[in-house]
Amino acid sequence: PSSSNPAGDLTSEILLALSKEDPISSTEAFPDVPFESLKAALDRLASRSMVAYEQAEREEAFLEPEAEVIVSHGSHEARVFEAVRQALDGLSIQDLESQIGDKMVAKLGQGKAFKEKWIKKDGAKLVALVDSINDVTRDQLKVIQEKRTHDPKIIADLKKRKLLKMQKVISFRISKGPKFALEMVREETDLTAEMLASGSWKTATFKPYNFKALGADQHAGALHPLNKVRQEIRQIFFEMGFTEMPTNQFVESGFWNFDTLYVPQQHPARDLQDTFYVSDPPTAGRPGPVSAEDKLDYDAYFTNVRQAHEGGKYGSIGYRYRWSEDESLRLVLRTHTTAISAAMLHKLAGQRVDGRVPPARYFSIDRVFRNETVDATHLCEFHQVEGVIADYGLTLGGLMEFMSIFFGRMGVTDLRFKPAYNPYTEPSMEIFSYHKGLNKVIEIGNSGIFRPEMLEAMGLPKDMVVFGFGLGLERPTMIKYGITNIRELLGHQVDLGFIQKNPAVRLDKN
Ligand code: PHE
Repeated sequence: PSSSNPAGDLTSEILLALSKEDPISSTEAFPDVPFESLKAALDRLASRSMVAYEQAEREEAFLEPEAEVIVSHGSHEARVFEAVRQALDGLSIQDLESQIGDKMVAKLGQGKAFKEKWIKKDGAKLVALVDSINDVTRDQLKVIQEKRTHDPKIIADLKKRKLLKMQKVISFRISKGPKFALEMVREETDLTAEMLASGSWKTATFKPYNFKALGADQHAGALHPLNKVRQEIRQIFFEMGFTEMPTNQFVESGFWNFDTLYVPQQHPARDLQDTFYVSDPPTAGRPGPVSAEDKLDYDAYFTNVRQAHEGGKYGSIGYRYRWSEDESLRLVLRTHTTAISAAMLHKLAGQRVDGRVPPARYFSIDRVFRNETVDATHLCEFHQVEGVIADYGLTLGGLMEFMSIFFGRMGVTDLRFKPAYNPYTEPSMEIFSYHKGLNKVIEIGNSGIFRPEMLEAMGLPKDMVVFGFGLGLERPTMIKYGITNIRELLGHQVDLGFIQKNPAVRLDKN
């Protein structure tokens, strides 16, 4: 055996020991080998059926320091006897104490030696009664020192005399296996071309497959929690008959982000404090067809929007201000995904099925940007979940019913609705829900029925009603994962370990 391979050494030592005695106990045969190394070697041998082993836990006896002294110097009584025997004409107690050098040992030893009738008192002196004695205690302790066990009665007695302490020891009972041999055969892990050519495969021993082995850590990519929650919500939309809107553009013109939504140009949301404007290039061209198939009349739409804002149209008196085309064409990082909804509804207005604009359900879940002060619950970029439903004969009660069903599928129940204001919806409702975990009512969304100033400018028929609603993606995700600081979820401070280890998410659907 080579010393550079201690594990190999140990396996052959085990095999050698087993060839002499079968079974063996690891604590007797290999008292000094650490548990882990022994188990590794045994596993190697057991996987080849060369040995079998079982693990046993047993109590073993260990000598207390006083017992160690007895093993090396003899028991107290034996020491007393020996001193007395050697003094041919007796020994005074004082001389005994000084010879032994320990008052306590001399005293305890005398008592026991008297009881054993090894010595007696003869006047002021102690004299021996026998020629030789058996130091039983020492012999017993010697056996225990080697074997760590003895007759239970003896163990109990020595324990009572505080010479032993008991300790739990894990040991292996090792026996020969069906393929026992003195040497470990080399096990092939692959059948190679060489083995086939030389014929050595006929005699080779192949390592059996270990189907219980864990695979190597693949360091695979991990889905961000936002992505997982997004996927869940997407599924709900699909189940409810929605089509996903193409939201893959972060930059919009003010026209799509605000004007089409009937947001006046002086509205505070259009302020630099709330919106990120793009400086290079600063403006977009006028809205126009996006492809050759796009036959929509963008010029008419552009004019309709201007007129709806300025002087009023579609039964509305408008905002009565001078609408600026330059302002409309400024480029912004979209502040909501409703910019996309507007473009989709405009496109819907250009479609006819049997001469009628068909009902539609659209949704999107994507990133938006707002010029906000970052804190534990606000970031400059976050994700919006948005849905629109265009149909005939829709009512506000229908919107409330729909929201209850939709949120119910996300496990959110007991909705409360509160009147609110959006420039593009009337009426508008903020949606709240009582959250059991947080023990408070929290805002979970915003909704409304789009205004005719917005819809009719697109060319949608007067009797078509369009619901719209939006909610954040971060909030439900944070609640689901128990995160209190949004910066732990998104942005440069995110701990990649958290992303990697976070569990799969399932919304508690109703
Ligand atoms: N755009 C709104 C927001 O950012 C959400 C909304 C969408 C409201 C559609 C009503 C209709 O909060």
